[in-house]
Amino acid sequence: MILEEKAEKTLVELGTADAQEVVRLFGEAEQFLGSQENEILGLESDEEFSAKAKALRDRWLSRKNGLIAKIDKAWLKGAPKELRPIVGFHFNALRGHAEQLQERLDKRRKLILKTVRGLEAERPRQTPTDLTLPGNRRTLGSVHPITRVQREIEDIFLDLGFSIETGPEIESVYYNFDALNIPESHPSRDDWDSLYIDANTVLRTHTSPVQMRAMEKHGAPLYIIAPGKCYRRDNPDATHSPMFHQIEGLAVDTDITFADLKGTLDFFAKKFFGSEKVRTRFNPSFFPFTEPSGEVSVSCPFCDGSGCRRCKDSGWIELLGCGMVHPEVLRSGGIDPDRYSGWAFGLGIDRFAMVKYDITDIQLFFQGDVRFLEQF
Ligand code: FA5
Repeated sequence: MILEEKAEKTLVELGTADAQEVVRLFGEAEQFLGSQENEILGLESDEEFSAKAKALRDRWLSRKNGLIAKIDKAWLKGAPKELRPIVGFHFNALRGHAEQLQERLDKRRKLILKTVRGLEAERPRQTPTDLTLPGNRRTLGSVHPITRVQREIEDIFLDLGFSIETGPEIESVYYNFDALNIPESHPSRDDWDSLYIDANTVLRTHTSPVQMRAMEKHGAPLYIIAPGKCYRRDNPDATHSPMFHQIEGLAVDTDITFADLKGTLDFFAKKFFGSEKVRTRFNPSFFPFTEPSGEVSVSCPFCDGSGCRRCKDSGWIELLGCGMVHPEVLRSGGIDPDRYSGWAFGLGIDRFAMVKYDITDIQLFFQGDVRFLEQF
């Protein structure tokens, strides 16, 4: 017999004759209430929950036909005198639980609504898609002009059989200066020019330390270029930046002469500026790690050397420093200067890019202004 049927009958009709039986009967009713409540507390849809919650409430608490009303009438009011106190006690407990049902159901509903609203807020709006609208254009990045020029220079030397070598930007004082025959008294060792990390470590001031590292690593013969960033305590102006880029070139072999250096750099200048008319000019200079040393200029590729704004009316553009590798440097690199000789050069990529693209302020390269960068 289900509880609904039992609630219609008196205790006598149910055969409940003593206190123990009363406890068991009310236990059954409590269990039924609990199981019905649990069944719907697990529901997640508000619609389904609300409907079932209302039915459950009506089933138990409806004034006329609710289980509580029926139990009150049949079990309590119809109880034999001697059982009335115990029946009254358990009936009050059961009614209390049933009446709290509403409160528990309300709480659960609030939770369901909160979850549902949260999910709705997360769900993207279902606006219809107009397939005829133009797509979202994603702007493409472009290669930075410094990188572009660096690659152009690299390609020319790679074609000549050179390979690319790299070295650390945070460099030891030994590789940056000592091994390159730059004595402590040399002005570039002064605090003003160099950015020191500590007494033995410096942000490399040029790419020349890679010469030494490559000589130690590979020995001779050696044909390398070494691109990378360099740092100096130079105040930023139109042609100076505290961080800039260089490419080092180094050729070490038997019978290397200054003529090889001249020929290679002349070929490079013609290739880079894209004109056979470009001429190179070598002026004497000084670097502690090359002897003899030179400064190379090219005839202005824009005016053929007749003088224009780009070459400041001189007809020439200064390009790079170079020279024959000093025997002391070869020796520091573990190469016998009596057997091998070599040439080296170092050029500023940023200045090359300025000449190539007619840029008058080096700072533009590093300011990240898209209007400037998207022109390349
Ligand atoms: C050197 O750094 C030598 N190591 C080059 C060299 C290598 C000579 C091998 C001989 C043999 P220099 O200090 O002149 O040289 O610098 C070379 C180039 O770096 C300059 O011509 C210039 O183009 C660039 N440069 C130097 N300082 C700056 C700076 N602050 N901002 C932008 N470019 C710079």
